[in-house]
Amino acid sequence: MNTTASPSRVPYSTYTDPEIYREELEKIFYRDHWCYVGLEAEVPNLGDFKTTFVGERSVIMVRNKTGGISVIENHCAHRGVRFCQKSHGQTKDFVCPYHQWNYDLEGNLIGLPFRRGVKVNEGGTIKIQGGQPADFKMEDHGLTKLRVETYNGLVFASFDHSVESLQDYIGPKVLPWVNRVFDGRKLTLLGYSRQRIPGNWKLMQENIKDPYHPGLLHTWFVTFGLWRADQKSQMVMDEHYRHAVMISRRNEGGAGSVTQGVTSFKADMHLQDDRVLDVVPEAWWKGPSVTMMTLFPSVILQQQVNSVSTRHIVPRGPNEFDFVWTHFGFEDDSEEMTRRRLRQANLFGPAGYVSADDGEVIEMSQQGFTQHPDYQTIAELGGREVGDTDHMVTETLIRGMHAYWGKVMGR
Ligand code: FES
Ligand code: FE2
Repeated sequence: MNTTASPSRVPYSTYTDPEIYREELEKIFYRDHWCYVGLEAEVPNLGDFKTTFVGERSVIMVRNKTGGISVIENHCAHRGVRFCQKSHGQTKDFVCPYHQWNYDLEGNLIGLPFRRGVKVNEGGTIKIQGGQPADFKMEDHGLTKLRVETYNGLVFASFDHSVESLQDYIGPKVLPWVNRVFDGRKLTLLGYSRQRIPGNWKLMQENIKDPYHPGLLHTWFVTFGLWRADQKSQMVMDEHYRHAVMISRRNEGGAGSVTQGVTSFKADMHLQDDRVLDVVPEAWWKGPSVTMMTLFPSVILQQQVNSVSTRHIVPRGPNEFDFVWTHFGFEDDSEEMTRRRLRQANLFGPAGYVSADDGEVIEMSQQGFTQHPDYQTIAELGGREVGDTDHMVTETLIRGMHAYWGKVMGR
């Protein structure tokens, strides 16, 4: 295996080079792939919309007249204006403020001022001034429409209308794990957290494909028993190795052989308010208490005990991404369960007891990479091969993603 091209050795430049990043947008975010845009629960009624991103392009997810969801590019067909500046709202149609071109909820151009010019009265003669050319066709000037698929409440979109179906894209090995959480029950929206992380977008995917770190980096996880290297776990990938699931079952915490020498284990640390650890197993878990799914390239689907959320990765150049957490619940949740999910959400998000650590190490990784673009990272824990495992002492999922990345990027 050639070490520089090997998925177990990744050149730092992969994370810092603007040319590589530009190619990633074209080959990964805008072609052949599905990107997450949101939850159906965010736009329940006709005309409800949310602005979000596919790659770096601003798009609008909107509940359309047929009751379905349209995703249209937030980019006026006239002179390119990003016409919608609201993050959420409700509307009958979209009007660009510059020259008031008017689009329906599906993105079709339905009106524009002075299309047939302006009538003037010159000494009793009516004349027409200006207007669009006679061959101007409304249907040629709609907004860019993305292909959209929804799946049990999740909404994905693609600029590439020839992309395979969403279910084929997720693949038969990962789909059952998606189904476990998104089993068709109606979702309810609980709230958002947002953060801007000064690191490359792939580092976030890698963080959730990395079972090596949680039991070491996260003081909170280790001390309160939500994650330990010896807990029963499983790493699963799709056939292309681009998506993955880390599945595990929590243990009861406390000291044990595996916490010896782990400096993040704090025997004397106690919670003043332990309601955040009020974990109640739910019937749909069917065993595992944690499943972290990375759907390449744009989203992480999180189930950490009773906390469920999507985490949207929005790239902003090679050195930065926005990370948007959407916390949700299920329609049949009791009031008490909703409170529990909200409380446990304190582990996550930018200031989460656990996730704050990840944001920080990703920033620190990027700092290291910019120092030596010609060096490479090592991901050889558990060997240099790529394959599913029944334990977490491995970096196989990271190798898998880079094997796929190399194929798509031709590098
Ligand atoms: Fe949108 Fe002119 S740029 S109407
Ligand atoms: Fe982490």
